[in-house]
Amino acid sequence: MLPRILIVFVICTATIGIFAQPMTLTINTDQIKSDVQPTMWGIFFEDINFAADGGLYAELIKNRSFEFSKPLMGWKEFGADPYATTSKAGTTNIISGGDDSNPRYAEIITNRTDGYALSNEGFRGIGVKKDMEYNFSVLAKCPQQSHPKFKIQLVDSNEAVIGETTIDPSGDTWKPYKAIIRATHTEAKASLKLLFEGIGVVDIDLVSLFPSDTWKKRPNGMRADLVQLLADMKPGFMRFPGGCIVEGRELATRYQWKKTVGTVEKRKLSINRWNTEFTHRPAPDYFQSFGLGFFEYFQLSEDIGAEPLPILSCGMACQFNTGELAPIDELDPYIQDALDLIEFANGPVTSAWGKVRKEMGHEAPFNLKYIGVGNEQWGPQYIERYKVFSSAIKAKDPSIKIVSSAGPFPEGELFDYASSELAQLHTDIVDEHYYNKPEWFFKNSSRYDNYDRNGPKIFAGEYAAQSVGTVNPANKNNWDCALSEAAFMTGLERNADVVYMASYAPLFAHAEGWQWTPDLIWFDNLNSYGTPNYYVQKLFSNFKGTNLLSVLDNNENVSGQKGIYASAVLDKSSNKVIMKIVNNNATKQTGELKLDGKKKFKPTGKVITLSSDNGDDVNSFETPRFIAPKDNSLALKSNRMGFELQPKSFSVYVLDLQ
Ligand code: AHR
Repeated sequence: MLPRILIVFVICTATIGIFAQPMTLTINTDQIKSDVQPTMWGIFFEDINFAADGGLYAELIKNRSFEFSKPLMGWKEFGADPYATTSKAGTTNIISGGDDSNPRYAEIITNRTDGYALSNEGFRGIGVKKDMEYNFSVLAKCPQQSHPKFKIQLVDSNEAVIGETTIDPSGDTWKPYKAIIRATHTEAKASLKLLFEGIGVVDIDLVSLFPSDTWKKRPNGMRADLVQLLADMKPGFMRFPGGCIVEGRELATRYQWKKTVGTVEKRKLSINRWNTEFTHRPAPDYFQSFGLGFFEYFQLSEDIGAEPLPILSCGMACQFNTGELAPIDELDPYIQDALDLIEFANGPVTSAWGKVRKEMGHEAPFNLKYIGVGNEQWGPQYIERYKVFSSAIKAKDPSIKIVSSAGPFPEGELFDYASSELAQLHTDIVDEHYYNKPEWFFKNSSRYDNYDRNGPKIFAGEYAAQSVGTVNPANKNNWDCALSEAAFMTGLERNADVVYMASYAPLFAHAEGWQWTPDLIWFDNLNSYGTPNYYVQKLFSNFKGTNLLSVLDNNENVSGQKGIYASAVLDKSSNKVIMKIVNNNATKQTGELKLDGKKKFKPTGKVITLSSDNGDDVNSFETPRFIAPKDNSLALKSNRMGFELQPKSFSVYVLDLQ
């Protein structure tokens, strides 16, 4: 029997031995495993959490055409004297019966000279910035000789005027009127007041207010700060418009891209499925104006260098809701939508849909290469419909890659059935979704190590670690979750011969209007910030490389041994070798990296690190870069380098080749 003191000594040295033993990782830079697809890391856009109207789409007026189910939702009437015993200063009548895409307008009747007003509350307020110009526009007509004067005011939350202008409509035909308002103050909760002075009648529709600093200063444009966050990611693709929103609660409310193109006033409003989806986060004022429609999505993809990846309804409403099915022999209109979309994106301007693209301002094709058939569908009904879509799309254009769905879960009966059927059909790319606890992401970093190399390629289409549980409103975008996603992503990267695309979901959330958390980017009416998860995505994407290398520890992939996860790529275009490495230990880890092969390295490089000691840490409007990348230089000698990984950290080593 060993004396107690010796036992303690043996245990201590064994423990120190295990943890203090520096790792030696090896990258052989001559052994290229496969290409890394330029589409590897992308973005998933869905109009959830007020991501489009009230978010990316910079329109500041809610219910601008009076088409919400309650036509005056978002609008408030003001008489000159709300306590007056005499008749009201004016009335707003909602007149129906216009064309199908824009059936209503507002008729304003003023009875007294002392003023009547309508004000719009915006999306949880209107955010305006001091000295910024705002472009006001309205469609108006004056059916009678006598009509009131029209003053437009931006007012702050105390009703103080912080900018104003006037227009002077006339004549009995609809005409657009425009004016510019300069804001004298910054205010997150402004509203827009339309003041009608004098007696008479004026009809109004499409009341609109845009900041002048939209992305690329485009009219009907997008919020520049939000697009910039996307552009900074350098995404390889952009998936749109979702998500469950593609499917609709029932078929009638599915996303129909043809209703989202052409002039803005002709785009027919639809209820947003997230309006009613969660009783714990109701959003009765959530509708889709489609001001941000398919043309704008294609244009945005082009602007940020991302391949457009539209996902279309396959004749199945959301199976978590009604699951309504279009019968197989009635799929034609759905299939025609897919074929016409190819023409809209890629067709000559002499074709019917190519002409629409040209008229909207884009003569050149958008170069569409991918189409998704259905979002999160499952069961034999999906496979049946998928087959019909696939043959029609391939017949129209065999070069289009089709994205099919493995259903909502990453394992289980539905997943197994879909995966095996889709493999037998030799589908191009299968979309898998994973919403799970951080532990799942760490554990699944080797998920694709043994996937069939001859099967369909994988689109990791929606994933996000859930700090509490899926769909739980207490979920946070905390460091624990972001770190687990980074570990999982090293596994995606290590299998870049199988995984062709990946995107975090959802992308955006309005701080006061969200339904689903966690989300990659949070914004309010004035500001926005990237979460720690955003910086993980951005680092993978910015350093995606062109070719896969292996990084080995004792000839094994680095996938959780000693709490370390790693992957490596070569970037032929910038002549660099890049290693991404996660330390999930609460302690620092040291090691050495050996760079085998003929390539020689410059003596210096850099390491970019994201880390935090506290897994609960988050970014916020107050501290938007609390967890954000930090750069440090590093030294190499004879193709070797020592490394020190911070506790709970994700690091990107960027090494320059000679
Ligand atoms: O990302 C939120 C939702 O999660 C998507 O709409 C859906 O595809 C998934 O269930």
